[in-house]
Amino acid sequence: MKFFVLCLIIKLICSQCPIINWSESENVDLFEKYSTKWISQNLPSSTIAYSSYYATLKTPAQNIVFYFCNTKQPDINDVANPTYVEIGNLNSLAVTDMQALGFLERLDINLYSKLKVVSPISKVFIPCLQKLVEDKSIKETAETSDTIDLLLGSKNSLSLPEIKSIQFKENLLAFNTPLSRSEIGFLIISTLFPQVKGLETFSNISKQYNCIALAGKSVENGGMNKEPLKNVVWSEMVNGTWTSPDFEYNKVLMKDIGMNLVTLESGISNSSFSELLYKTDVIVDVTNQISGIAEFLKIALDNPDTKNKPAVTVMTGFTLKLDKLLNTEGGGSAYENTGYSRPDFMLIDFQKEIFPNWNPNYLHSIYVRNLSPGDTPIHRTSADCSQSLPTLTCPAIVVPKGLNDDSTSGNKNSETLKGGIGFATIAGIIIAILIVAGIVAGYLFRRRSNAATKNIPIENGGQGKFVKMDGGNEEIPLKTIRK
Ligand SMILES: *[C@@H]1O[C@H](CO)[C@@H](O)[C@H](O)[C@H]1NC(C)=O
Ligand SMILES: *[C@@H]1O[C@H](CO)[C@@H](O)[C@H](O)[C@H]1NC(C)=O
Ligand SMILES: *[C@@H]1O[C@H](CO)[C@@H](O)[C@H](O)[C@H]1NC(C)=O
Ligand SMILES: *[C@@H]1O[C@H](CO)[C@@H](O)[C@H](O)[C@H]1NC(C)=O
Repeated sequence: MKFFVLCLIIKLICSQCPIINWSESENVDLFEKYSTKWISQNLPSSTIAYSSYYATLKTPAQNIVFYFCNTKQPDINDVANPTYVEIGNLNSLAVTDMQALGFLERLDINLYSKLKVVSPISKVFIPCLQKLVEDKSIKETAETSDTIDLLLGSKNSLSLPEIKSIQFKENLLAFNTPLSRSEIGFLIISTLFPQVKGLETFSNISKQYNCIALAGKSVENGGMNKEPLKNVVWSEMVNGTWTSPDFEYNKVLMKDIGMNLVTLESGISNSSFSELLYKTDVIVDVTNQISGIAEFLKIALDNPDTKNKPAVTVMTGFTLKLDKLLNTEGGGSAYENTGYSRPDFMLIDFQKEIFPNWNPNYLHSIYVRNLSPGDTPIHRTSADCSQSLPTLTCPAIVVPKGLNDDSTSGNKNSETLKGGIGFATIAGIIIAILIVAGIVAGYLFRRRSNAATKNIPIENGGQGKFVKMDGGNEEIPLKTIRK
């Protein structure tokens, strides 16, 4: 115990094995002594089982047996194809599933010192990691002389022989809600690194997420004068046709802000998609190249047949360009690294854009923002490394009576309104997020000031606005779709 305490004090992730003189017969509970046993919150409770010196994680994607260094690899018979991973002494990691980076960051940024190889390196979008890439502390390819203790990702994309690997992405994708996907990521990384506070970090995120989602629930339960939920289409143009990637997951995310995700058949044509547009309140478009949707909308919205179309809110995919060294054709987005480790920020970002009155005090935006004519992309670089994420605390939510009974949501200070309140009133007062002092308004968003939210008046409506996933690398000629 002292060993890890010391490590934490000096803010280093220690790498020597803390177990010096282990004997199986003594039956010492090493997880109790050196780690934290995970208590599942959004995963089936049978997912992880502990013995004194190893833990068995079963997910639909992979069975992993984590055993402590200086013990012995256990012999597991009742689990199919287990991957054995030694923990407590991991010094060097390779990562090819880029989502893993966000979990390392959020658990302890010092874990970056373990990263030796990250591939593809052009898909690193976290400023402090970019710094390490620039410093050449992280390489794109491993040489045969390199020792890599563990790969988070797929072996095929890295030419290393016989390396232990955790199918990180597959493990995430085996779960279909923002909180369960986030939980499995935190569970895996914090089991690998016993000294990080994984369970506590995730519990805080989960609490925060549920707290933000409470407002969405009030809509779902008829808070808006029993109005039906607004429709959102989450789209991506692939090879000229439209799909809705990761539908189940995004459906939950949208529901948790009080929106209904519309089913989109895979590979629908431009004309079917444009019909759908006019029955839709919000589009979240994650097409990598923004010009695709901009061009499409120009055509669709200029169509004289669609005179009485609703105002459409569009969030378009945003290709994050970093700097000349790192950017490659095709771009990418911060979401690729950190979207699953920050479900709370995802939710609050969408809430801010779709229901701006609910949370007027939240001024940040990580993943989505209004897309205004002439907006230029926000490029994040290693220079943004010194800034930290804004701290979210549970908002003091005011919700209709009966909706704030959930004691786990932490909104103890909320007032309870009497029933029968209209949406307009609720919308005006529903959320105030307290942002803890000392936070840097500018983290990731410094250049946001010149890209402030602007509503674009689309004909026949005026309340429509264009919003894009943060980080685009193209200027979008949206002026052309204004009348
Ligand atoms: C290791 O444990 C054994 C049995 O408990 C004990 O006899 C031995 O002295 C220990 N060695 C060290 C270095 O602690
Ligand atoms: C979790 O939240 C509590 C209460 O806000 C805070 O004191 C604690 O430091 C947080 N823990 C982590 C690991 O973020
Ligand atoms: C799109 O087209 C390219 C080139 O023809 C092809 O390699 C790729 O697999 C296609 N993608 C999908 C999702 O069909
Ligand atoms: C759909 O529209 C986009 C943008 O105008 C275009 O790039 C794409 O080729 C179109 N798809 C088809 C199948 O015509």
